[in-house]
Amino acid sequence: EKALLLYSGGLDTSVMIKWLQEQLNFDVVTLTLDVGQEKNDLERIAIKAKDLGAVKTITEDVTEKFSYDFVAQGIMNDGLYQDKYPLSTSLARPLMSMEAVKFAEQNECTTVVHGSTGKGNDQVRFEVSIKALNENLSVIAPVREMNMNRDEEIEYARMRNIEIPYGGKYSVDENLWGRSVEGSNIELINEGVPEDAYRWVLPIEKSAEKADVISITFNNGLPVKLNGKAMLLADLITELNYKAGQNGVGAIDLIEDRVVGIKSHEFYECPAAVTIINGHKYLESLVLNKRESQLKRVMDQQFAEMVYSGLWFDPAMEHIKKFQQSINLLVNGTVKLKLYKGNVIPMGVESSNSLYDVFMSTYGKNQTFDQSKAPGFIYVFGSQTITTSKVRKKQLDK
Ligand code: ARG
Ligand code: SIN
Repeated sequence: EKALLLYSGGLDTSVMIKWLQEQLNFDVVTLTLDVGQEKNDLERIAIKAKDLGAVKTITEDVTEKFSYDFVAQGIMNDGLYQDKYPLSTSLARPLMSMEAVKFAEQNECTTVVHGSTGKGNDQVRFEVSIKALNENLSVIAPVREMNMNRDEEIEYARMRNIEIPYGGKYSVDENLWGRSVEGSNIELINEGVPEDAYRWVLPIEKSAEKADVISITFNNGLPVKLNGKAMLLADLITELNYKAGQNGVGAIDLIEDRVVGIKSHEFYECPAAVTIINGHKYLESLVLNKRESQLKRVMDQQFAEMVYSGLWFDPAMEHIKKFQQSINLLVNGTVKLKLYKGNVIPMGVESSNSLYDVFMSTYGKNQTFDQSKAPGFIYVFGSQTITTSKVRKKQLDK
């Protein structure tokens, strides 16, 4: 029997290659995906898998697919879980699940194996997604099923000559849209996030002394140019991760509520995501009317909730995507942003879909808003508040 293992090359999943063979008699096919993580040597990872006994190793670069089919939705939806986390890990899981199902089917694997623990969100994301795509596949999560702690795992690895990667102090997940860090000292909440957890963002004191003013041009809700230069979405994000990170932008400290009910202290580095969503929202405030903005906020929040909770393949997601696709047709224009010491500061915006009429809002001359109509409006608009207040006062006086 064959099992397809989502293999990162790290300690957990390396131990699994051996464990699946020894304990469950599986032939192991490994799948290693490039989703734009910082350093990854796919070839070296494949060799390691072969050395540990994998019968077949598959590696695939899905960065572009990730950017256009998943990150793009994160942008159009202004996707932030609990108003802060750009869903970087969350958005990659449905793609990884899709690839896992595709290759499991192609290679006649009966089972898909992933490296998540039994305490987090990722197990939910992988398993709901895989089952939604192919109900007949079995899924196993050895870290959860073995119930090994980190020390036992290192011992298991040592006994079988499995290379133990450096430090492994924090548990890290990386892709194009961000870096998630948890564990070790981050588990303490009576202190700030230690500096050694930072990789992509310079801590404020060390960030650039000079501001960087950038411009992002959006077309139908997606960034297409950085500083006037047309770029592929993935390249634009990579460049912005660097630029914004240099200015201390994108470090996120979140005490978050996991799907399984656990509160956890997480640290994220998402310089491009924070910058892009900031610019996207600013542009939205120019081109959407009040009702459109309110409605969009509801959809945005539902999107974030569902992506975080692993419900990418729920049919409701298709309706959200259609709404967002249609409303984002209005989100065209260029936003200038100053990146400085962790801040993203608007420095101007322009759009052919602008709803801003300076002659309506100006206090200066040539204004077009007829103020003489305001008192009548206030009389009607305020009547209930004014009359109920009067009645209540009388009732209280009695
Ligand atoms: N809590 C985050 C999420 O649910 C990050 C989990 C990523 N995993 C990790 N090993 N840091 O998306
Ligand atoms: C894990 O459980 O493997 C990581 C944490 C999470 O998914 O929330």
